[in-house]
Amino acid sequence: MREFKNIGIIGAGSMGIGIAQVASAAGCKVFLYDNSIDSAKKSLNNLEKILSRLIVKQRITELQKQQILHNIKIVSSLNDFKNVELVIEAIIEDLSIKKELFRKLEAIVTPNCIIGSNTSSLSITDLGSVFKDPTRFIGIHFFNPAPLMPLVEVVPALQTDKNLSLAIKKLLQQWKKLPVIAKDTPGFIVNRVARPFYSEALRIYEEQIADFSTIDQAMKEVGGFKMGPFELMDFIGNDVNYAVTVSVFKSFYYDPKYKPSLTQKQYKEAGWLGRKTLKGYYDYNNSVNHNPSNDVALLNEIFERILALLINDAVDALYLGVASKEDIDLAVTKGVNYPKGLLAWGEEKTFNWVMNTLDDLYATYHEDRYRCSAHLRKLASKGL
Ligand SMILES: NC(=O)c1ccc[n+]([C@@H]2O[C@H](COP(=O)([O-])OP(=O)(O)OC[C@H]3O[C@@H](n4cnc5c(N)ncnc54)[C@H](O)[C@@H]3O)[C@@H](O)[C@H]2O)c1
Repeated sequence: MREFKNIGIIGAGSMGIGIAQVASAAGCKVFLYDNSIDSAKKSLNNLEKILSRLIVKQRITELQKQQILHNIKIVSSLNDFKNVELVIEAIIEDLSIKKELFRKLEAIVTPNCIIGSNTSSLSITDLGSVFKDPTRFIGIHFFNPAPLMPLVEVVPALQTDKNLSLAIKKLLQQWKKLPVIAKDTPGFIVNRVARPFYSEALRIYEEQIADFSTIDQAMKEVGGFKMGPFELMDFIGNDVNYAVTVSVFKSFYYDPKYKPSLTQKQYKEAGWLGRKTLKGYYDYNNSVNHNPSNDVALLNEIFERILALLINDAVDALYLGVASKEDIDLAVTKGVNYPKGLLAWGEEKTFNWVMNTLDDLYATYHEDRYRCSAHLRKLASKGL
């Protein structure tokens, strides 16, 4: 059984410092490197403040705070990673910059050192191609904020050692995380199956069927989601959410099912990014009271349309071996806080209902975004 006690983290941005906190709280020694030492120091200062607030809320003790901070050491060079057993990279999302870093890193670490990437959208197999020994490389995809979100997607590349996924899964369990195993395909699990939550909501708005707050109301009140799609996009940032959609669209060879929304593109272009710019689909400078809709039929129609597309994509991901049934459902409940797993939800609503809903939409629009998964038809025909 592999031991991971000394962990190197590269990139001290929001993800890197969050992962450092998780590893450190689990008792590991963390070596944190960022090419801007000032950024690393700033992140560590912020972490100190966050931990102090957690003490006030009685979520951790002063001793735990001291231990977490004591275990994290900022280093000024990658050469300080000579003795770590695992490195997790969390730098800027840029293929060539990450590849260049990995080339440098492999020449420094020991032959047994495992290297993971926290990339959200790049191919692990492509990143792995730069290693002399690619069997040691794997995707370890945390969600933001890493200390709070339990889900981690473990993504082996084509070249990754077959036993490594399990070893990383065990480590993440020791770190009190909920790891799932995902095939190295665009968007892994969550960023793939969750796409219609945003794209279909935007489409419904573009068709002038309902405004942002009514669509959010439908998903929260009828569906039980904690946040509506527009609230969530404002929270994530329209720049970030749009970039993921574009990346998934391109990686699927421009499959129209994943086509990005012009509305979201314009919000990004206008700098209406959401909460961080105080303006997105909602205005965060002024508290505006939205009049809730009483149109129960409309709210149901919106919810069912979005849900049917979500279940269809989850079934398709299962069909194409992206992950197991259990892991797909865990991924959406623990990674994006859906009230139910999408496959369990499909069983509850019946796959026949999902198929008929999609077929009705397809009959109306004749667009590929409403294409029913072959597997969904099979499940429906079996009466499941
Ligand atoms: N933010 C999210 O919601 C989120 C969620 C999951 C995964 N990710 C992924 O995690 C990674 C980091 O994202 P983030 O949001 O923390 O970014 P960020 O911009 O907050 O931080 C990136 C950090 O990397 C440093 N950096 C850049 N180039 C470097 C280099 N060559 N060597 C060393 N340090 C370098 C920067 O100085 C910065 O501090 C990305 O791959 C992103 O796709 C992000």
